Amino acid sequence: MSTTTQDRVLTPSDVEQLNFSQTVGLVNEPNMCSGGAGTIRAVLRAVPGLGAGDRILEVGSNTGFSVLEMASNTKCEVHGIDIEESSVRFSRDKASALGLDNAHFAVGDGTRIDFPDAHFDLLFASNVTSFIPDRTRAIDEYHRVLKRFGVLAAVPIFYHRRPPERLLAEVEQAIGAPLPRFSRADWEEMFNRPGAELFFSEEFEYLDLSSAQIEAYVASVLDQPCNDHLQADVKQAAGRRLHYFYTLFNENLGYARYAILLYRKSQPTEFPILHASAPVAGTAQYR
Ligand SMILES: C[S@@+](CC[C@H](N)C(=O)[O-])C[C@H]1O[C@@H](n2cnc3c(N)ncnc32)[C@H](O)[C@@H]1O
Repeated sequence: MSTTTQDRVLTPSDVEQLNFSQTVGLVNEPNMCSGGAGTIRAVLRAVPGLGAGDRILEVGSNTGFSVLEMASNTKCEVHGIDIEESSVRFSRDKASALGLDNAHFAVGDGTRIDFPDAHFDLLFASNVTSFIPDRTRAIDEYHRVLKRFGVLAAVPIFYHRRPPERLLAEVEQAIGAPLPRFSRADWEEMFNRPGAELFFSEEFEYLDLSSAQIEAYVASVLDQPCNDHLQADVKQAAGRRLHYFYTLFNENLGYARYAILLYRKSQPTEFPILHASAPVAGTAQYR
Protein backbone atom coordinates (compact mmCIF):
# COMPACT_ATOMS: atom_id res chain seq x y z
CA MET A 1 0.00 0.00 0.00
CA SER A 2 1.33 3.49 -0.79
CA THR A 3 1.51 6.40 1.63
CA THR A 4 0.37 9.82 0.48
CA THR A 5 -0.01 13.37 1.78
CA GLN A 6 -1.99 15.62 -0.56
CA ASP A 7 -2.12 12.77 -3.12
CA ARG A 8 1.70 12.45 -3.26
CA VAL A 9 3.29 9.04 -2.74
CA LEU A 10 5.83 9.38 0.09
CA THR A 11 9.02 7.39 0.56
CA PRO A 12 11.06 7.32 3.81
CA SER A 13 13.56 9.79 2.31
CA ASP A 14 10.67 12.19 1.47
CA VAL A 15 9.61 11.98 5.11
CA GLU A 16 13.14 13.00 6.19
CA GLN A 17 12.55 16.33 4.35
CA LEU A 18 9.14 17.16 5.88
CA ASN A 19 8.83 20.14 8.21
CA PHE A 20 7.10 19.86 11.58
CA SER A 21 3.54 20.70 10.41
CA GLN A 22 3.79 18.29 7.49
CA THR A 23 5.08 15.52 9.75
CA VAL A 24 2.36 15.95 12.40
CA GLY A 25 -0.20 16.12 9.59
CA LEU A 26 1.07 12.80 8.22
CA VAL A 27 0.79 10.96 11.55
CA ASN A 28 -2.17 12.90 13.06
CA GLU A 29 -0.46 14.20 16.18
CA PRO A 30 -3.24 15.44 18.49
CA ASN A 31 -1.56 18.90 18.82
CA MET A 32 -2.72 20.29 22.16
CA CYS A 33 -2.59 23.84 23.39
CA SER A 34 0.10 24.58 25.99
CA GLY A 35 -1.00 22.99 29.26
CA GLY A 36 -3.49 20.70 27.46
CA ALA A 37 -6.85 20.06 29.15
CA GLY A 38 -5.67 21.95 32.27
CA THR A 39 -5.56 25.18 30.23
CA ILE A 40 -9.04 24.57 28.86
CA ARG A 41 -10.42 23.93 32.37
CA ALA A 42 -8.74 27.13 33.66
CA VAL A 43 -10.26 29.16 30.83
CA LEU A 44 -13.75 27.70 31.32
CA ARG A 45 -13.54 28.34 35.09
CA ALA A 46 -12.78 31.99 34.36
CA VAL A 47 -16.05 32.42 32.49
CA PRO A 48 -18.57 30.99 34.94
CA GLY A 49 -22.11 30.38 33.80
CA LEU A 50 -21.22 29.52 30.18
CA GLY A 51 -23.88 27.14 28.96
CA ALA A 52 -26.62 26.39 26.46
CA GLY A 53 -27.18 29.34 24.14
CA ASP A 54 -23.62 30.67 24.56
CA ARG A 55 -21.03 30.56 21.80
CA ILE A 56 -17.30 29.91 21.82
CA LEU A 57 -14.81 30.35 18.95
CA GLU A 58 -11.29 28.97 18.70
CA VAL A 59 -9.05 30.53 16.05
CA GLY A 60 -6.42 28.07 14.77
CA SER A 61 -8.24 24.96 15.97
CA ASN A 62 -5.75 22.64 14.25
CA THR A 63 -6.81 19.00 14.84
CA GLY A 64 -9.63 20.05 17.18
CA PHE A 65 -8.30 19.24 20.64
CA SER A 66 -9.42 22.45 22.41
CA VAL A 67 -12.78 22.74 20.64
CA LEU A 68 -13.63 19.13 21.48
CA GLU A 69 -12.59 19.65 25.13
CA MET A 70 -14.79 22.75 25.38
CA ALA A 71 -17.68 21.07 23.57
CA SER A 72 -17.56 18.06 25.88
CA ASN A 73 -17.30 20.18 29.06
CA THR A 74 -20.07 22.70 28.27
CA LYS A 75 -23.41 22.85 26.50
CA CYS A 76 -22.13 25.80 24.42
CA GLU A 77 -22.07 25.95 20.64
CA VAL A 78 -18.31 25.68 20.03
CA HIS A 79 -16.71 26.66 16.71
CA GLY A 80 -13.16 26.12 15.48
CA ILE A 81 -11.67 27.80 12.44
CA ASP A 82 -8.35 26.92 10.86
CA ILE A 83 -6.68 27.93 7.62
CA GLU A 84 -5.67 24.30 6.89
CA GLU A 85 -8.44 22.36 5.17
CA SER A 86 -6.99 18.95 6.11
CA SER A 87 -7.03 19.89 9.83
CA VAL A 88 -10.66 20.96 9.55
CA ARG A 89 -11.61 17.68 7.87
CA PHE A 90 -9.77 15.69 10.55
CA SER A 91 -11.47 17.68 13.36
CA ARG A 92 -14.95 17.18 11.89
CA ASP A 93 -14.39 13.42 11.68
CA LYS A 94 -13.23 13.38 15.29
CA ALA A 95 -16.29 15.38 16.46
CA SER A 96 -18.69 13.03 14.71
CA ALA A 97 -16.85 9.94 16.00
CA LEU A 98 -17.27 11.37 19.52
CA GLY A 99 -20.92 12.32 18.87
CA LEU A 100 -20.25 15.97 19.81
CA ASP A 101 -22.88 17.79 17.76
CA ASN A 102 -22.16 21.13 19.52
CA ALA A 103 -18.64 21.19 17.95
CA HIS A 104 -18.38 22.86 14.53
CA PHE A 105 -15.32 23.29 12.32
CA ALA A 106 -14.77 25.45 9.24
CA VAL A 107 -11.89 26.62 7.11
CA GLY A 108 -11.30 30.23 8.09
CA ASP A 109 -8.71 32.96 8.44
CA GLY A 110 -8.14 34.71 11.78
CA THR A 111 -7.60 38.01 9.96
CA ARG A 112 -11.05 37.79 8.30
CA ILE A 113 -13.33 35.94 10.69
CA ASP A 114 -16.51 34.96 8.90
CA PHE A 115 -18.90 35.73 11.78
CA PRO A 116 -20.88 38.89 12.61
CA ASP A 117 -19.82 41.49 15.20
CA ALA A 118 -20.52 40.70 18.88
CA HIS A 119 -21.31 37.02 18.23
CA PHE A 120 -19.21 35.07 20.75
CA ASP A 121 -19.10 34.87 24.55
CA LEU A 122 -15.56 33.44 24.59
CA LEU A 123 -12.76 33.53 22.01
CA PHE A 124 -9.82 31.17 22.50
CA ALA A 125 -6.55 31.93 20.69
CA SER A 126 -3.73 29.70 21.85
CA ASN A 127 -0.52 29.28 19.87
CA VAL A 128 -1.94 30.72 16.64
CA THR A 129 -1.41 34.49 16.64
CA SER A 130 2.36 34.07 16.33
CA PHE A 131 1.74 32.22 13.04
CA ILE A 132 -0.30 35.11 11.58
CA PRO A 133 1.85 37.81 9.94
CA ASP A 134 -0.79 40.55 10.33
CA ARG A 135 -1.29 40.12 14.10
CA THR A 136 -2.89 43.53 14.62
CA ARG A 137 -5.61 42.74 12.14
CA ALA A 138 -6.22 39.28 13.64
CA ILE A 139 -6.50 40.67 17.19
CA ASP A 140 -8.86 43.42 15.95
CA GLU A 141 -10.99 40.60 14.54
CA TYR A 142 -10.91 38.65 17.85
CA HIS A 143 -12.30 41.73 19.64
CA ARG A 144 -14.82 42.49 16.88
CA VAL A 145 -16.60 39.13 17.09
CA LEU A 146 -16.74 39.18 20.92
CA LYS A 147 -19.95 40.24 22.67
CA ARG A 148 -19.91 43.02 25.26
CA PHE A 149 -18.51 41.43 28.44
CA GLY A 150 -17.22 38.55 26.33
CA VAL A 151 -13.81 37.09 27.17
CA LEU A 152 -10.72 36.80 24.99
CA ALA A 153 -8.54 33.94 26.27
CA ALA A 154 -5.07 34.18 24.73
CA VAL A 155 -2.38 31.61 25.53
CA PRO A 156 0.83 32.89 23.93
CA ILE A 157 4.26 31.30 24.21
CA PHE A 158 7.00 33.84 24.91
CA TYR A 159 10.73 33.92 25.66
CA HIS A 160 11.60 34.25 29.29
CA ARG A 161 15.37 33.98 28.60
CA ARG A 162 17.13 34.71 25.34
CA PRO A 163 17.90 31.48 23.45
CA PRO A 164 21.07 31.10 21.34
CA GLU A 165 20.68 32.25 17.73
CA ARG A 166 21.63 28.80 16.34
CA LEU A 167 18.68 27.28 18.27
CA LEU A 168 16.25 29.93 17.00
CA ALA A 169 17.46 29.32 13.44
CA GLU A 170 17.01 25.55 13.79
CA VAL A 171 13.47 25.93 15.21
CA GLU A 172 12.54 28.33 12.40
CA GLN A 173 13.81 25.80 9.88
CA ALA A 174 11.76 23.04 11.60
CA ILE A 175 8.48 24.98 11.63
CA GLY A 176 9.12 26.65 8.27
CA ALA A 177 8.19 30.09 9.61
CA PRO A 178 9.82 33.03 11.39
CA LEU A 179 9.72 32.77 15.18
CA PRO A 180 8.60 35.94 16.97
CA ARG A 181 10.96 36.99 19.81
CA PHE A 182 8.17 38.45 21.98
CA SER A 183 8.19 38.86 25.75
CA ARG A 184 5.07 38.40 27.88
CA ALA A 185 4.72 42.20 28.13
CA ASP A 186 4.80 42.46 24.31
CA TRP A 187 1.93 39.95 24.03
CA GLU A 188 -0.09 41.58 26.83
CA GLU A 189 0.07 44.88 25.01
CA MET A 190 -0.67 43.32 21.63
CA PHE A 191 -3.83 41.50 22.77
CA ASN A 192 -5.28 44.53 24.55
CA ARG A 193 -7.67 47.03 23.01
CA PRO A 194 -9.38 50.15 24.38
CA GLY A 195 -12.41 49.06 26.40
CA ALA A 196 -10.94 45.66 27.26
CA GLU A 197 -9.47 44.73 30.63
CA LEU A 198 -6.83 42.08 31.41
CA PHE A 199 -8.59 40.58 34.44
CA PHE A 200 -6.57 37.36 34.91
CA SER A 201 -3.11 36.15 33.98
CA GLU A 202 -1.02 33.19 35.00
CA GLU A 203 2.43 32.16 33.80
CA PHE A 204 3.74 28.60 33.37
CA GLU A 205 7.12 27.07 32.63
CA TYR A 206 7.66 23.90 30.59
CA LEU A 207 9.12 20.90 32.39
CA ASP A 208 12.23 19.37 30.82
CA LEU A 209 11.62 16.05 29.00
CA SER A 210 13.94 13.05 28.94
CA SER A 211 14.69 11.25 25.69
CA ALA A 212 12.72 8.25 27.00
CA GLN A 213 9.63 10.44 27.58
CA ILE A 214 9.90 11.80 24.04
CA GLU A 215 10.31 8.26 22.67
CA ALA A 216 7.22 7.05 24.54
CA TYR A 217 5.17 9.99 23.22
CA VAL A 218 6.33 9.38 19.64
CA ALA A 219 5.33 5.71 19.97
CA SER A 220 1.85 6.68 21.19
CA VAL A 221 1.39 9.04 18.23
CA LEU A 222 2.48 6.38 15.71
CA ASP A 223 0.39 3.63 17.36
CA GLN A 224 -2.91 5.44 16.78
CA PRO A 225 -5.27 3.28 14.66
CA CYS A 226 -5.51 6.10 12.07
CA ASN A 227 -1.83 5.42 11.26
CA ASP A 228 -2.32 1.69 10.55
CA HIS A 229 -2.33 2.38 6.81
CA LEU A 230 1.25 3.76 6.84
CA GLN A 231 4.02 1.51 5.52
CA ALA A 232 6.42 0.35 8.26
CA ASP A 233 9.47 2.16 6.80
CA VAL A 234 7.52 5.42 6.36
CA LYS A 235 6.24 5.12 9.92
CA GLN A 236 9.79 4.61 11.23
CA ALA A 237 11.06 7.64 9.27
CA ALA A 238 8.19 9.75 10.65
CA GLY A 239 9.07 8.53 14.16
CA ARG A 240 12.71 9.61 13.75
CA ARG A 241 11.58 12.98 12.41
CA LEU A 242 9.15 13.52 15.31
CA HIS A 243 11.84 12.56 17.82
CA TYR A 244 14.18 15.14 16.27
CA PHE A 245 11.49 17.90 16.37
CA TYR A 246 10.37 17.19 19.94
CA THR A 247 14.00 17.12 21.19
CA LEU A 248 14.63 20.46 19.48
CA PHE A 249 11.39 21.99 20.87
CA ASN A 250 12.20 20.67 24.34
CA GLU A 251 15.47 22.62 24.23
CA ASN A 252 13.73 25.74 22.88
CA LEU A 253 10.94 25.60 25.49
CA GLY A 254 13.61 25.63 28.21
CA TYR A 255 13.97 29.34 27.33
CA ALA A 256 10.22 29.93 27.02
CA ARG A 257 7.08 30.11 29.12
CA TYR A 258 3.41 30.46 28.32
CA ALA A 259 0.75 32.61 29.90
CA ILE A 260 -3.02 32.38 30.15
CA LEU A 261 -4.21 35.95 29.53
CA LEU A 262 -7.91 36.70 29.95
CA TYR A 263 -9.34 39.99 28.73
CA ARG A 264 -12.93 41.04 29.33
CA LYS A 265 -14.43 43.33 26.75
CA SER A 266 -15.81 46.52 28.27
CA GLN A 267 -14.95 47.41 31.83
CA PRO A 268 -17.90 47.76 34.20
CA THR A 269 -16.20 50.82 35.77
CA GLU A 270 -13.16 52.87 34.95
CA PHE A 271 -13.03 54.46 38.41
CA PRO A 272 -9.54 53.98 39.93
CA ILE A 273 -9.05 51.69 42.94
CA LEU A 274 -7.63 53.36 46.07
CA HIS A 275 -6.33 50.42 48.17
CA ALA A 276 -4.58 48.47 45.41
CA SER A 277 -3.32 44.93 46.17
CA ALA A 278 -0.85 42.37 44.80
CA PRO A 279 -1.20 38.56 44.85
CA VAL A 280 0.90 36.65 47.41
CA ALA A 281 2.75 34.04 45.33
CA GLY A 282 1.78 30.42 45.89
CA THR A 283 -1.43 31.07 47.84
CA ALA A 284 -3.98 30.63 45.01
CA GLN A 285 -5.98 27.40 45.43
CA TYR A 286 -9.11 26.05 43.77
CA ARG A 287 -11.17 23.96 46.20
C1 LIG B 1 0.58 25.49 16.40
S1 LIG B 1 -1.02 25.27 15.78
C2 LIG B 1 -2.00 25.68 17.18
C3 LIG B 1 -2.67 24.49 17.70
C4 LIG B 1 -3.53 24.64 18.88
N1 LIG B 1 -4.82 25.19 18.55
C5 LIG B 1 -2.98 25.36 20.09
O1 LIG B 1 -3.78 25.63 20.92
O2 LIG B 1 -1.80 25.60 20.27
C6 LIG B 1 -1.32 26.71 14.82
C7 LIG B 1 -2.56 26.57 13.96
O3 LIG B 1 -2.89 27.85 13.44
C8 LIG B 1 -3.37 27.67 12.11
N2 LIG B 1 -3.29 28.97 11.42
C9 LIG B 1 -2.19 29.59 10.93
N3 LIG B 1 -2.53 30.77 10.38
C10 LIG B 1 -3.87 30.91 10.53
C11 LIG B 1 -4.81 31.92 10.18
N4 LIG B 1 -4.46 33.03 9.53
N5 LIG B 1 -6.11 31.73 10.50
C12 LIG B 1 -6.52 30.60 11.14
N6 LIG B 1 -5.66 29.60 11.49
C13 LIG B 1 -4.37 29.75 11.20
C14 LIG B 1 -2.47 26.60 11.57
O4 LIG B 1 -3.04 25.98 10.44
C15 LIG B 1 -2.35 25.65 12.77
O5 LIG B 1 -3.36 24.69 12.77
